[in-house]
Amino acid sequence: MKYVLEIENVSKFFYGLVAIDDLTIKVKPGQIYGIIGPNGAGKTTLFNCVTGIYRPEKGTIKYKGEDITGMSPHKIAQKGVLRTFQNIRLFKEMSVAENIMAGCHTKSQQKWYHSILHTPFYKKDENKYWKRVEELMEFFNLTKFAMTPTGDLSYGNQRKVEMARALAADPELLILDEPAAGLNENETIELTNIILKIKEMGLGIMMIEHDMDMVMKLTDYITVINFGKEISQGVPSFVQDDPRVVEAYIGSDDEEDEV
Ligand SMILES: Nc1ncnc2c1ncn2[C@@H]1O[C@H](COP(=O)(O)OP(=O)(O)O)[C@@H](O)[C@H]1O
Ligand SMILES: [Mg+2]
Repeated sequence: MKYVLEIENVSKFFYGLVAIDDLTIKVKPGQIYGIIGPNGAGKTTLFNCVTGIYRPEKGTIKYKGEDITGMSPHKIAQKGVLRTFQNIRLFKEMSVAENIMAGCHTKSQQKWYHSILHTPFYKKDENKYWKRVEELMEFFNLTKFAMTPTGDLSYGNQRKVEMARALAADPELLILDEPAAGLNENETIELTNIILKIKEMGLGIMMIEHDMDMVMKLTDYITVINFGKEISQGVPSFVQDDPRVVEAYIGSDDEEDEV
């Protein structure tokens, strides 16, 4: 498999206004692919197209060679495309372990009646899943919070739970929307190291991030978008010095904290 994800000539409009304008992006397995650009550039909209929240008006999106354009978010997640959100989405009253467990069920073949009837099929799967939850809590250094409601955790730990939940579904493509947003410096460093370890597992990772230190450290390749259009792409060192990129950020109000 050459590419885990192929976005080809994708466009998305809202009320006739273009939010994504003819983007083509290809992500290889084992690669961290960065999407950067000023606020409102269309980055989250692109991720929403890939994960099935929006259906693009033009173009195709292929996951492992299969056309997934317009499939439901549930179906796409089940196939192995998992994500975290710019604004963390967790079950805040549920414990860390339960939230991660919910991720295991994304991929599960179980029917609803297996859990009600406690069939042997259900029990076998549940044991397997709890083992996986334990492993993930260990990996993310969350074991001591296993029983803590996620709403009581620091922002940095909530991000880790969200990432653990995504990994619980065994993704081959992990999509991270601003993973360092709201984190302090130490939390950002910890998360950077975690993402590098996830990369070693061999999955494709796509990420939107404003923290340029993190982007430069992590990404193998970057597409820069502005007003929904690609304005540059290449390895981080190239993109960083590309005059078109520098100009796009100077033209926006958020150059201070981004580039
Ligand atoms: N559901 C929606 N309805 C209408 N407009 C939207 C919707 N989602 C995003 N947009 C618009 O699309 C553009 C890109 O937004 P977004 O993808 O969130 O940008 P980014 O993530 O790069 O900051 C913005 O102009 C935004 O207002
Ligand atoms: Mg966004």
